[in-house]
Amino acid sequence: MNQQSENDVPWFTALAVEDRIRRADPTAGTVPLFEAMGLPDDEESVIDEKFHDEEAPHYQSYCEIPRTKISEAWLLDWIRERTPEGVVLDLGSGTGRVAEHIASSTRRVIAVDRSAGMLEYARKSFPPERGVALRADIRDLPIEDGVIDGVVCSGVLHHLPEWRRALREAARVLRPGGRLIIREPNASYAGQLFEPAEKLMNWLATKGRTVQGTPDAGAQEGLSPVEEPLSPRHLVEAAKAEGFVVGTLGSAMFLGSLGIPGEGAWQRLYFQPANLVDRLMLRYSNHDRGALLLTVLVKRW
Ligand SMILES: C[S@@+](CC[C@H](N)C(=O)[O-])C[C@H]1O[C@@H](n2cnc3c(N)ncnc32)[C@H](O)[C@@H]1O
Repeated sequence: MNQQSENDVPWFTALAVEDRIRRADPTAGTVPLFEAMGLPDDEESVIDEKFHDEEAPHYQSYCEIPRTKISEAWLLDWIRERTPEGVVLDLGSGTGRVAEHIASSTRRVIAVDRSAGMLEYARKSFPPERGVALRADIRDLPIEDGVIDGVVCSGVLHHLPEWRRALREAARVLRPGGRLIIREPNASYAGQLFEPAEKLMNWLATKGRTVQGTPDAGAQEGLSPVEEPLSPRHLVEAAKAEGFVVGTLGSAMFLGSLGIPGEGAWQRLYFQPANLVDRLMLRYSNHDRGALLLTVLVKRW
């Protein structure tokens, strides 16, 4: 029989978070872990959870390789600059790279994920006095209404056929005026335009040689079992239906989404100017053909 512990939570209150953080051991090296009771157990969710449990070490090394760091740094900054200072949920935290980035400028971070494997890493990504980890399903958050200042959701909704339910949950837990910041693969991405350029760059970077695997080479082949990018139109419609005002809707990683093999100088040489162009395009044009949707939604009063 499963033993229930004080960290199993039928309902997770802001007060409980504060209390648990106060009692946390600052030398522990990991943030406290809460476990929601009764996660949805439909087949797709269980398969996706298992996939992410196995993927966790590879995802962590993928986040750490120079290519990812160079191409993603400005996106993490973009998210942090828009994240409110109070209590913030990182929905689908994965190994915690977003939580780590926002922890310096928010009062509390709550890293939420279904995957215990991912949370093992997320628990080490920010200091114990700054927040907690919560193993829960983002379609059914054990959190009281209107107590959260900000929600960040990066690269998660496309794993859920029921992503609208997650949007509804975010709206429920946010206080009026609270923000939901979303970063998602874009169904309208014009990736096919880049295929010839990508081939040429690959050839130039490798000069025709075969490049040996990068540190994330152990990652599972292909996509996770559930992957369905969102279109900007569907996201906006759903956001309005759930009581959000659309603050920002843009797309990024137009040039910056090109893959270049190997590691090192080639990445820096390419990504720094490409990312600058992407940032300018995000700011001054409203194109929606980039690889990522970047959205800020504000909960209506
Ligand atoms: C691609 S990772 C993104 C990780 C992180 N947000 C980032 O940007 O690096 C997607 C994460 O969403 C989690 N996830 C997917 N469906 C979920 C659900 N229904 N409830 C909670 N977490 C979920 C997965 O376990 C995985 O860790």
